[in-house]
Amino acid sequence: MMLDETVVVVTGGAGLLGRVFVRDIVQHGGIAVVADIDVAAAAKFVSELPERYADRAYAMQLDITDTGSVAGLISAAFERFGRIDSVVNNAYPRNSNYGRKLENVTYEDFCQNLSLHLGGYFLVAQQFGLFFRSQQKGNIINMASIYGVMAPRFEIYSGTQMTMPVEYAAIKSAVIHLTRYFAQYFKNDHIRVNSLSPGGVLDQQPESFLRNYRAFCNSKGMLEGKDISSVLLFLLSDASKYLTGQNLVVDDGFSI
Ligand SMILES: NC(=O)c1ccc[n+]([C@@H]2O[C@H](COP(=O)([O-])OP(=O)(O)OC[C@H]3O[C@@H](n4cnc5c(N)ncnc54)[C@H](O)[C@@H]3O)[C@@H](O)[C@H]2O)c1
Repeated sequence: MMLDETVVVVTGGAGLLGRVFVRDIVQHGGIAVVADIDVAAAAKFVSELPERYADRAYAMQLDITDTGSVAGLISAAFERFGRIDSVVNNAYPRNSNYGRKLENVTYEDFCQNLSLHLGGYFLVAQQFGLFFRSQQKGNIINMASIYGVMAPRFEIYSGTQMTMPVEYAAIKSAVIHLTRYFAQYFKNDHIRVNSLSPGGVLDQQPESFLRNYRAFCNSKGMLEGKDISSVLLFLLSDASKYLTGQNLVVDDGFSI
């Protein structure tokens, strides 16, 4: 088993990617804490896992933008398992105006979305980093995106309501660089820190967009959660024991 009783906290664990990650973690011998602001969705998801995984996944409430909530989750998980091995910084907070085109993004919305997402990722990495230092062991994986490494290809959205939000570029490029900062800061504490940058993930997007996107890719185009999760398992496992401060891009070649 690749994860041999590894205790992994997945923030945003009830979301699109989070659910796939949790399923793969428990299937590969790990124990998953499904930490989500929507604890009802997390609990429902856990209750629907196959019976044999019933004692391997736990739903817990978490708001990544609240220091007390992050500290409380760490304490609760530590109390339950006696250790935490890894955290996947994967929640996706945004306000109700998120996703607008550049012309329509207000200063307030820009700042709020950065606070929620980038601020929340900082808080989770900071609090878990300090906990991992006290434990002298830990593994932080920050979910970033190809849009943290490349300029958007706006033409692929033509004819749809979709865009690549300007906040997302600021947030994800910063997440990738904070990964290096944290990896360096905690270098001598047996903590490693990496980021994972997926390309687009299939989620009922319009056909025209999928075709436009596919034209830039190698063999598949938009990916499925499991295509990202297999690389997350590598980052969680000892197979990547000496990997730290890196950003792994998984995008079927879209960004090259
Ligand atoms: N889906 C994609 O195409 C894609 C591509 C590249 C990168 N990513 C990244 O992967 C990560 C997960 O994305 P997703 O598509 O699964 O998102 P999602 O919206 O499907 O799920 C996000 C989850 O985060 C939870 N959440 C929101 N605010 C929270 C908070 N304050 N505290 C705790 N939980 C909170 C939500 O309840 C939800 O369950 C994000 O970092 C995203 O940027 C996604």
